[in-house]
Formats: sequence, structure tokens, C-alpha cells
Amino acid sequence: MTHLIRPMQREDLPDVLRNERSSYVYPWSEGIFEECLTLGHECWLSVFGNDSSDKTTITAGHGVLSVAAGESHLLNVCVHPDWRGNGMGRVMVEHLLKRAQTLRASVIFLEVRPSNLMACKLYETLGFNEVDIRHDYYPTITGREDAIVLAKELLDD
Ligand SMILES: CC(C)(COP(=O)(O)OP(=O)(O)OC[C@H]1O[C@@H](n2cnc3c(N)ncnc32)[C@H](O)[C@@H]1OP(=O)(O)O)[C@@H](O)C(=O)NCCC(=O)NCCS
Repeated sequence: MTHLIRPMQREDLPDVLRNERSSYVYPWSEGIFEECLTLGHECWLSVFGNDSSDKTTITAGHGVLSVAAGESHLLNVCVHPDWRGNGMGRVMVEHLLKRAQTLRASVIFLEVRPSNLMACKLYETLGFNEVDIRHDYYPTITGREDAIVLAKELLDD
């Protein structure tokens, strides 16, 4: 089986929502994904299959990026729990970084929960730096949690 990244389509949403709901306490709704597709955001899937035309692919994760006016925002990256720790999150973020560069963004931003140690480590090793804190940004089971705002400059290769 080959791992590949391909554009997300509307018909992928049931698989995307399954992975999203298994990964977040506060998952995105179907409507949010539909809006991202409608707005033309960069919506990508991480899949396993025998080749790109294989109808029996397994959807392991997804990533969503917005790019406008020279800035980009990594809005979502998610790998189903069963598939974590195999490098797919890193490959997806690297893919989105390349897409942002191709679309002429000079910087990429994202928000992450400080409690999300795995994601924080991933972004740190990819060269993201903390640029801001949004206090009480995220809901939690017991109250609110800050968001760390991370940024990375995208230099021309
Ligand atoms: C964050 C997430 C996308 C990472 O996906 P993944 O496929 O497991 O990540 P990878 O296997 O590519 O690992 C990437 C890096 O994360 C870190 N990491 C992975 N597993 C880890 C663990 N158990 N403990 C600490 N760090 C870990 C490491 O830095 C790793 O890089 P390395 O293995 O090359 O050293 C995944 O955990 C996920 O979907 N989480 C839920 C959704 C989420 O929180 N998304 C991010 C929102 S900001």
C-alpha cells in the first residue's frame, strides 16, 4: 500500500468527519468542511491505496490551509489515532507548507493548544516560532485554554 496526499472532495466528507471526530473533543462540523471546500481553501487527504485510481483507499487524515494576500493559515491537521506516529502528520504539514509557498505566501500561521504536546513538538521541529498567546481561546471540558500562535516565514527555495 502506498501513502499519498490528494485533494479532498465533498464525497470524502464521511471519512473526514470520522477521523475528525476521533481526534478532537471539539471537532469541526460537516458545514465547516463544506465551507472550506466552497471557499477554495486547500483541503487535502492523507490516504493509503495501491495507486491514485484505487477505489479501496483508506483515509487516514486530512489537512486544511487558507492562503490570501501573501499570508497563509494552517487551519487543521489531523491523523486518525490508529495511524499516528508513522510520519503522516509531518508529511501533511510539509505538503501544506509547500502549497503555501507555491501560492506565494511569505508566512504561515497556526494556533495550537499548549496541552497538545505532540502537535507542539511537530511544529517546533518544522521551524515554527511562538509569536503570540490568545488567552482563554479554546473551550475545554473544565473551562478555557489559551492558544499559542505559531508562525513560520516561508522563504523562496
Ligand atoms: C498532531 C498530529 C497531526 C500528528 O500526527 P502524526 O501522524 O502522529 O505525527 P508524525 O508521526 O508525523 O509525528 C510528527 C512529530 O510529532 C511528534 N510526536 C509524534 N508522536 C509523539 C509522541 N508520542 N510524543 C511526543 N511527540 C510525538 C514528534 O516530533 C514527531 O516527529 P518525529 O517522529 O519525526 O520526531 C496527530 O497527533 C493528530 O491528529 N492529533 C489530533 C489532532 C490535532 O491535535 N491536530 C493539531 C491541531 S493544532
